[in-house]
Amino acid sequence: MAKRYQNREWKNSMRLRLDYNNMMSEFVGKNEGFTTKEINQVKGKALEALDKIKQSRGKGWLGWTELPYNQAEIVADINATAKKIRKTAKNFVVLGIGGSALGPIAVFQALCHLHYNDLPSRVRKGPKFYVEDNVDPERMKALLDVINVEETVFNVITKSGSTSETMTQYLIIYDLLKQKLGDKAKEHIIATTSANAGNLIKLAKTEDFKTFYIPDGVGGRFSELCPVGLLPAAVLGIDIGEMLAGAQYMDKICMNGTFVKNPALINAALQYIAINKGKNVSVMMPYADGLKFVADWYCQLWAESLGKEVDLNGNRVNAGQTPVKSLGVTDQHSQVQLYTEGPFDKVITFLAVDKYREEVVISNGCEDIPDVHFLCGHTMNELISAERSATEYALTVKERLNHTIYLPEINAFTIGELLYYFEMQTAFEGEMLGVDTYNQPGVENGKNATYALLGRKGYEKKAEELNSAPAKKAEFIC
Ligand code: PA5
Repeated sequence: MAKRYQNREWKNSMRLRLDYNNMMSEFVGKNEGFTTKEINQVKGKALEALDKIKQSRGKGWLGWTELPYNQAEIVADINATAKKIRKTAKNFVVLGIGGSALGPIAVFQALCHLHYNDLPSRVRKGPKFYVEDNVDPERMKALLDVINVEETVFNVITKSGSTSETMTQYLIIYDLLKQKLGDKAKEHIIATTSANAGNLIKLAKTEDFKTFYIPDGVGGRFSELCPVGLLPAAVLGIDIGEMLAGAQYMDKICMNGTFVKNPALINAALQYIAINKGKNVSVMMPYADGLKFVADWYCQLWAESLGKEVDLNGNRVNAGQTPVKSLGVTDQHSQVQLYTEGPFDKVITFLAVDKYREEVVISNGCEDIPDVHFLCGHTMNELISAERSATEYALTVKERLNHTIYLPEINAFTIGELLYYFEMQTAFEGEMLGVDTYNQPGVENGKNATYALLGRKGYEKKAEELNSAPAKKAEFIC
């Protein structure tokens, strides 16, 4: 049967739109707003970034650019595996962290029922879903209080195959599984990792785990559209073909050499100007609970890719823009006061949805209280959209830079588009800033310090370095 994402008209109706009016001086005022002249001044640099990405796509760390195109066989394997898991497992648990967890969390929240785990199993039609992305002992115990490991499939995800947090979870869970199931324990683990590096692949081979591979040129935070994200999504019953089709559709848009027709490139240019003007904070504010964790996923992508001490020539630049997550309308009652009246150091990105998947009419009542009654007969859909427009207006009149990305609706196609859009925007931004978008020396340093503190062999020098750090003074602790 033909899929809807094979229909050009449907795809075009699902195209994301970037509205950057409120980045411009005509709307946000001369003090803060940008002029067409300013944008034209960075246009050349942006187009160079596009050329660079075009030339290097698929190579080195740009393996992620090809994920929408080169996974037909893998997708078939993932779908077959997911089908089996959906029939047999009561729970599916992802063990991973950072780029090996944030994508699955974002997609789960976006594309599944918002109380998915609480639905009866006949409605869910698949296992309950958990992503364990921390090593808080209380959380591990809490998980074990609500699942039986014998009824659970664990997807251990780690690109490096050596991240302490993930390997810790693996050790605990596999031990439990072996105690309960003996030789059958291996049937409850799926390893998603590098084919040729790290410890998880060695373990997978020795223990004979089902394995999916994270391609070499795909870094953690760019990995949602490979088996890292596709297997959990398929287990949740999400059409991963549609997600990849959305990414492919967006890829074509992002390769458009006409600057004004390429939203990821334009926005990279706008953020570049903003960063150079000291706008050090990037607020991601979706007006949909479904997109709440897309904001988390974005925060990692933007922070870890651009936050760099040195540029590609080794010059100290301390680049980056601090991403902040915010949820509309919830955070209107928490953060928006600051965004409207605090320092002029932010750019706000709204994520708006044209058509929510549900419509809820506000019930009639409170006839004697006009200040409440005015809500009656409207829908919650109208209310949330009005609040977004109102917040946009309130920020704009206060000369606060903001722009909006519209999703026609939230579905697998538009989520594929959105994730790929942000990946491409980040790649363009990294090129424009002249930093290595794909490394994370700051994270590695912390990882190494943890190894040293826990006595891992080979990290003795690091341990010495840590031990020789000045001792904390009691006078500064109260
Ligand atoms: O983007 C990255 O590379 C990191 O955030 C990693 O995803 C994170 O550190 C987890 O690494 P790994 O997948 O190797 O366990």
